[in-house]
This record gives sequence, structure tokens and C-alpha cells, in this order.
Amino acid sequence: MNEGIDEPKRNFLKLMVTASIVAGAGLSLGVVLKSLTPPQEGITSFPTLKLVDSNGNPLLASSLSVNNPNALQFNYPLQATPNNILNLGDASGTPIKISATQVTIPADGSKYTSYAGVGKYESIVAYSAICQHLGCVFPELRFYPNGVESITVGSKSYTGVFHCLCHGSTYDPTSGASVLTGPTTHPLPMVKLVWDSSTDELSVSNMVGPTIYGRTSDLQGETAINGTTTEVTDLGDPFTVV
Ligand code: FES
Repeated sequence: MNEGIDEPKRNFLKLMVTASIVAGAGLSLGVVLKSLTPPQEGITSFPTLKLVDSNGNPLLASSLSVNNPNALQFNYPLQATPNNILNLGDASGTPIKISATQVTIPADGSKYTSYAGVGKYESIVAYSAICQHLGCVFPELRFYPNGVESITVGSKSYTGVFHCLCHGSTYDPTSGASVLTGPTTHPLPMVKLVWDSSTDELSVSNMVGPTIYGRTSDLQGETAINGTTTEVTDLGDPFTVV
């Protein structure tokens, strides 16, 4: 108990003690305030980062097998903002050319143009690995390769799609990860891939579509990625190892 000292008086005494410590240590008020303010997280523009493997070597487009169900993920544009990269093929495993297309956001009817696929067959694309409904990630949000895995939603069977087992949202990666089935009302944001045909190396340089789920901005709210590369990690095959 602190009988005899009321609350305002106690707070005033605390302030005086703190001020005397600051003054005694020769610290300016600005320095003290700065130390109490968390660092600003985020960046001001989309960086260009080279995709590398776990050894730090450039990821080659030709190393990405067609219709691979494994989640190959990299962070972009910030840390803890995962994306899937995948090489799309038809039911017989032949790469399919992915063209830029107009994508509609069901939530508000607005439209944007997705990126074309890259690589020798223009079949490689990358999308946010965070479901746009309520934020589920791998293994709930997974890729069902064309002719390899399928998922039935209602009375319809889908293959060659992203589907989220949390609540049933389905996205079409051949058309900008547009919405095939809800409850999501937003497509998956798409990452811009850049392919160097002379080296077969891949980089990422931008995003298009809705804001990444859970963010007020794609560029804020998370720590920046250090350096000029971002590592692609194989999280495995959700149909066999998870
Ligand atoms: S979080 Fe993916 S469908 Fe709900």
C-alpha cells in the first residue's frame, strides 16, 4: 500500500525520477523517444529479387517440373509474405502457354490484367500462397495439378486449380488465379516473374491484383527482405507427405 501518496502525485514523482535519469545519462529526449518507437516496417516500392535455391544458386526455369503438386514457395515482396511458383501443364503433362488476361474481383467488380507466363513455354506463374478468404496457407491452400489431382466442389470436379480446404475457395491459375468457387471474393494476388532466356534464371519484380490477405498494403506491415535474392523452398507434396 502507498498510504499518504495519491495517484497523481505518484505519477509526478515517477516522471521526475525518469527525467533525472535521462538528464544524468546525458540523453536527449529525442534519443529516448526514438528508442521507444518501433522501427518502421515495410518498403516504398516493389524490389527486383532473383529467385535462388536453398544453396543460393539461381533457380532455373527448366528445373521446374510441369504439374508438380509440391509447394515451391518464396517470400515476396516482404518477409512472411509467401508465394507459390508453378509450371502449368495440360492433363498429359505438356506445358501450356499462359496469356495475360483480364481478371475480375468479385467483391467489387473491378478488373485488372494478369501477367503472362514465363519460361521457354510461357507456362510458369506465381501467386500469393495466402488464401484471400481468411488467410489459410499450405497445406490447406494447395495446387491440384491438371490430370493428377482433382477436387469436387458441389457437383463439379476441378483439376489444375488452387483449392483451399479451410472453406472451399477455388482459384484458376491459368487465368490470373481468378475465383472459380467462393467463399473468397478476391483472386490470389499474382507475382510478376521475369525470365532471362540467356541464363534461364528467374526474378520477381512486381505484383498485381488484390492486396495480399491481411495487409493494408503489399509493401507495409512486415520486415523487408535483405539483399537481392529470395529463396525458393520446397514444402513438399500435400497429397503424400502432409
Ligand atoms: S481461408 Fe481459404 S477458403 Fe477460407
